[in-house]
Amino acid sequence: MTEQTSPAYAGPARVLSGVKPTGDLHLGNYLGALVKFTRMQHEAETFIFVADLHAITEWQEPAKLTAQTREIAAAYLAAGLDPKIATIFPQSAVTEHAELAWIFNCVARVGWLDRMTQFKDKSGKNKEKASVGLYTYPVLQAADILLYKATHVPVGDDQKQHVELTRDIAAKFNHDFDAPGYFPLPEPIHQGVGARIMSLRDASEKMSKSNPSDAARINLTDDADAVAQKIRKAKTDALPLPETPDELKDRPEAQNLIGIYAALDGRTAAEVLTEFAGQGFGAFKPKLADLAVAKLGPVTEAMRGFMADPAEIDRILAAGAERAREVAAPTLRQVKKLVGFWGD
Ligand code: TRP
Repeated sequence: MTEQTSPAYAGPARVLSGVKPTGDLHLGNYLGALVKFTRMQHEAETFIFVADLHAITEWQEPAKLTAQTREIAAAYLAAGLDPKIATIFPQSAVTEHAELAWIFNCVARVGWLDRMTQFKDKSGKNKEKASVGLYTYPVLQAADILLYKATHVPVGDDQKQHVELTRDIAAKFNHDFDAPGYFPLPEPIHQGVGARIMSLRDASEKMSKSNPSDAARINLTDDADAVAQKIRKAKTDALPLPETPDELKDRPEAQNLIGIYAALDGRTAAEVLTEFAGQGFGAFKPKLADLAVAKLGPVTEAMRGFMADPAEIDRILAAGAERAREVAAPTLRQVKKLVGFWGD
């Protein structure tokens, strides 16, 4: 991992993250991302965007892309992101992202990108048919982060490598253009409960919007009946719940459900087990279903409210894009100057 070079970055702490508008948001996104963003907006200047440029690295139906962009924005707002505090915007509305990504394409090395595990996973055996955008995806992500000189990037485990690449790009840029400390070397933030919510059907996989089985995830748009039913049908084992989290090590399904309960309730897994030790899933699941419905119901409700007023979402996104540009434009101007491009 790259060490912070000297002189260290001297700018303010800034949080930045984004979610791709490529499918329904689920409980994993809610607990792992949205709740964290909402908390962090009170701790540092926060930029949260809808990653539509990243979405099109894989084919997206145009009309669906627009609708899902508004849906992600609605989810941000429903989860408690406040547009008066955080800057919420669509990535493509701030053209500086793509411009900086081009410059970073010329800073990053092919060898670095060849090591990215997400590209290997997503392109699979058919690398020849993957878009070039999918390959340089992490470079665009570095541009997203560094355009705002973000210092803290809340992401899931699967994105940690991309933030590390961002550090490498920042360090190489600072070095190559003789601008020590110009870009910060951002830190991935991925601690806390809810960082890893797994599929309800197969606890060895992350809960994911791309899983073909809808029963594997709880969508933020699911109604109370659907939430309860999915929890009732979630895969489990036949043993009673143990007294300590350590004893869940070889019981991934049980561990996942306890983790979900803990995250929803703002408690630790140990605390949850103190309450449920000795009970079986027949007793635990209805409690989990009640809790999930109680916590997610108001979020789903709020999300529906925002989605019923797309004009309001659009106003919020447009205002956010304008504010984002106020930070992004000067960065890009300085970068172009450092690179030696003509103009002022
Ligand atoms: N790649 C991220 C994901 O799939 C989304 C994303 C795009 C992002 N740009 C970002 C996250 C910048 C954090 C910072 O989840």
